[in-house]
Amino acid sequence: MSQNSMAKEIVLGFFKKSYDGLSRQAMDFSSIAPALKSDRPLDDRELARVIRLAIAAEHDAAHLYELISDSTKDPRVKKTLQNIASEEKIHVGELEKLLSMFDKENDAMVEKGKKEVSEEIL
Ligand SMILES: [Fe+2]
Repeated sequence: MSQNSMAKEIVLGFFKKSYDGLSRQAMDFSSIAPALKSDRPLDDRELARVIRLAIAAEHDAAHLYELISDSTKDPRVKKTLQNIASEEKIHVGELEKLLSMFDKENDAMVEKGKKEVSEEIL
């Protein structure tokens, strides 16, 4: 099995397990609420972790809107939900910019991962 087809199988397996149609559970981000309500401001490390959760929430929202869009034939709903999904992806970019301010090694690690994929399977 080539590395490319192995990577596809891993991704598809994850997708089937985690995002099985419309029946999947939404991610639960309520566990961060106590940290956000504490009587002191978050330090940089805590802030980076909360921003990372917010990024996950944005990806989750984009995924949900694409699922709904893909599940209807109504062109008005499809267009609106695709537009909203695109807005969520913009929010991901905004949050990633903030994350890079509070996790100084994040950008380098992300680039390293992209390079590894390029070298290994593309
Ligand atoms: Fe958003």
